[in-house]
Order: sequence, then C-alpha cells, then structure tokens
Amino acid sequence: MRDTVLVLGGTGKTGRRVARQLAERRRPVKAASRSGEQFFDWQDSETWADAVEGVESVYVVDEQGPHAAELLADFAKLATRKEVRRFVLLSARAVEQWSHDESMFATERAVQESGVGWTILRPSWFAQNFSEEPLLSDGINAGELVLPLWTGSEPFINAEDIAAVAVAALTEDSHEGEIYRLSGPRLMTFGDCVKEISEATGREIRQVKASHEEYVEHLVQLGYPREIGDYVNGLFDTIRIGQTAYLSDGVQRVLGREPRDFSQYVAETLWPTPVPDQG
Ligand SMILES: NC(=O)c1ccc[n+]([C@@H]2O[C@H](COP(=O)([O-])OP(=O)(O)OC[C@H]3O[C@@H](n4cnc5c(N)ncnc54)[C@H](OP(=O)(O)O)[C@@H]3O)[C@@H](O)[C@H]2O)c1
Repeated sequence: MRDTVLVLGGTGKTGRRVARQLAERRRPVKAASRSGEQFFDWQDSETWADAVEGVESVYVVDEQGPHAAELLADFAKLATRKEVRRFVLLSARAVEQWSHDESMFATERAVQESGVGWTILRPSWFAQNFSEEPLLSDGINAGELVLPLWTGSEPFINAEDIAAVAVAALTEDSHEGEIYRLSGPRLMTFGDCVKEISEATGREIRQVKASHEEYVEHLVQLGYPREIGDYVNGLFDTIRIGQTAYLSDGVQRVLGREPRDFSQYVAETLWPTPVPDQG
C-alpha cells in the first residue's frame, strides 16, 4: 500500500513540523525543498517527478511568487499522472481579508481544480514568527522591535497545531473538500506578545513604533526589497483596523481539542541568550 507523504517546504516553519509529526507516527516521509533531504525546486520542474514518485499525499507550501498558481497547476498535472491521491494546501486566513481580490484565491483554486482530493488550511499569523521569521525574530533577538503597529489583535496560532491538523488531513479520508480556518485561542496585540516574551525570558525588548514610510525604510536598511515593506504594511493594516480580530475553530473541528495558547509557545521555545555588550 502506498502511504508515503511528500512534504513541500519541508525545512520551513510548518513543513518541518509536519514531517516530524508524520515520522513520529511512523509514516514514510519525503521532506522536500532546495535544502531538504528530497531535493525539490519550484523553479525547476525537472526536480518534481522524483519527489512525487510513490507518493500518496502532498503537503503543499506553494512557490509564494507571482507564478505560484501556474506552477501549482503544472505540478498537479504531474501528481495526477503519478496517482497522488491528496493535496493539503497551506493557504492563509489573510485571503479572507482580501476577498475582493480574486488573485488571492488563485493557488486555492489550482488545488481545487486539480482533480486530486484536497484540503485547504487557512491559518492566522504563526506564533513562531517571533522566533523563526527574521522580520520579527531579528528584532526580538536584538532587544528592539520596530513595527508600524502595536494595537490591533491577531489570534496567533502555534505551528505545531497547524502541523497536527495537516497530518490529520494528509492521513485520513474525512477531511477531503474541507477548508479549515485555524487560529490560536486568544486575541493578542503585537505588544502583548512582546511583553509575554520579555517577561518569560527576563530580557528587555523595546517596542518602537514606525510610520508606514519609516517601516519600509527600516526594512530596506536591513536588506529587504522595498516591495516586501509595502506588502507587510498591507498585512499589518488588516490587523490594525480589526479585520483579523476573530477566532476560528479549525483546530477544534479536526483535533477535538483547544489550540495551544501563546504562553505555551513562549515557554517551549529556546530563546537565544543575548550576546554580552563588548563595549
Ligand atoms: N508566517 C505566517 O504567519 C503565515 C500565516 C499564514 C500563512 N502563511 C503561509 O505560510 C507559507 C510559508 O510556509 P512556512 O512558514 O511553513 O514556510 P517558511 O518557513 O516560510 O519556509 C519556506 C519553505 O519553502 C521552501 N522553499 C522556498 N523557496 C522554494 C523553492 N523555490 N522551491 C522549493 N522550496 C522552496 C524553503 O526551503 P528551501 O529554502 O530549502 O528551498 C522552506 O522549506 C506562505 O505561503 C505563507 O503565506 C504564513
């Protein structure tokens, strides 16, 4: 019986956890990416066939560029020929805030029209962004986080919970055709999160408020392209005006339990020890 799972983005925040949780259940896993144990590059379709060989289901972290949906549609054609049975797509709850923009749903549609069984996950912002996403973690580690907002709530979800839902959807038949909206159990501002991390680690983390323009300049100084600053400002705006201030019940529906609280994430994270000031 085929039971191998291909995990795309297998070295990323969610894929790494999906691969680990599958391995804990003794499922054969191919953790794939450009630096993963299974080489896979969205930009090089020659690398796809070997990855899908003998695979039953695929955890899909898409290419994240302007051609993500087209690449995913091409990948789906190959997967269908190779008799893959299921896709579980990592989308985002943010598509709902931008629902006036049809293009936001392009990758979801590519999966829905693929002919392969599908489940779509739409998570809120990840708690792990504070420790694993340089846009936030660099500031946390430096003791000074610059952001264009300190108010506006988001129900940060633990990536371990996203992975647990993904594992269920990848390995059980009952999730086919479902769109699961996933959030943590508590609405929190970025200020709340930084305060909790600061209290738990005993480290002072200064919260610096930047205007949109100052934030873009800050990111450019750090080496990010200007467009990233504009894009992230747009994401933050939806939080600031309250569009994301609601809880979702996907974790409860799939796992039959409450999602992990932010405090558990803070307690279980290995925060780096600050480098002593040499001056
Ligand atoms: N962060 C959040 O709060 C949040 C919230 C909702 C939804 N999301 C969605 O989450 C997705 C990102 O997932 P993630 O956070 O688990 O991953 P991630 O930590 O951003 O890592 C990206 C993964 O994709 C791989 N990758 C990058 N370019 C690739 C390429 N050309 N070909 C093959 N693999 C490539 C990377 O590995 P290599 O570099 O080794 O290739 C890595 O494994 C995005 O679609 C985002 O919209 C994020």
